[in-house]
Amino acid sequence: MPLSGPIGVFDSGYGGLTILKDIVHRLPDYDYLYLGDNARSPYGTRSFETVYQYTLQCVKWFFDKGCPLVILACNTASAKALRTIQQNDLPNIAPSNRVLGVIRPTAEVIGEYSKTGNVGVLATKGTVLSDSYVLEIQKFYPGIRVYQEACPMWVPLIENNEHISSGADYFIQKNVEQLIAQEKNIDTVLLGCTHYPLITNKISSYLPKGVKVISQGDIVANSLQQYLDHHPEIETRCTKGSNRVFFTTDSTEDFDNHASHFYGAFVQSKHLDIVKL
Ligand code: DGL
Repeated sequence: MPLSGPIGVFDSGYGGLTILKDIVHRLPDYDYLYLGDNARSPYGTRSFETVYQYTLQCVKWFFDKGCPLVILACNTASAKALRTIQQNDLPNIAPSNRVLGVIRPTAEVIGEYSKTGNVGVLATKGTVLSDSYVLEIQKFYPGIRVYQEACPMWVPLIENNEHISSGADYFIQKNVEQLIAQEKNIDTVLLGCTHYPLITNKISSYLPKGVKVISQGDIVANSLQQYLDHHPEIETRCTKGSNRVFFTTDSTEDFDNHASHFYGAFVQSKHLDIVKL
């Protein structure tokens, strides 16, 4: 008998809280269980195999907690682990459960924003090297040209609360200018990493005037709403009590101190020991 439970939301650390914030805003009645694998983050610089193994362990933990549906609210995990989990693991470990990511829902709509047909993607090195955005966007918008720029310094800057400092501007300006140097007619820039909405203003300030900067949170929330509308077999197993429970694999104190920047509200997390994964 398939279990009922909260919707699981997974990220390598804090970043997925920017996605959860928009999901909760749009779908406030459901219960949510969040896990940040802070002890092993960042994922953005790790190999395919490592990201896949870590993500699979965490997905199994969500299933053990009764989650019928898990959202990988991490671009890197979505890029490197989602397909293998969906195709190879899910049929064996929990065929009636579902795991969804953030790249496909974003790729489905990003073409609507662009008039020039030139879209820029800013993301971690792992996401860029996977080419997931290029491949997914081509499926929905074959005429769109996608330009990518890896921004390896941005996650550490944000996690160390240095993104507000003037030192951060050097790296933000450098990566934004490198993206635009690839194609000056880019008119839409996708923030393909959960952390980047925190520096939207700085990113915009280094882009040519009129370039749209797109965050994923609301796009993913809208897509989840549509998914639940079309999949009553999953929706009816998602419990509704507006409970939000947060777990981190690292220090709860650190998590709670950082979380409000990403989530916009106070969070009190619980600890999950990675040896129990
Ligand atoms: N959450 C990750 C992403 O969206 C960024 C953080 C990391 O590298 O672990 O790609």
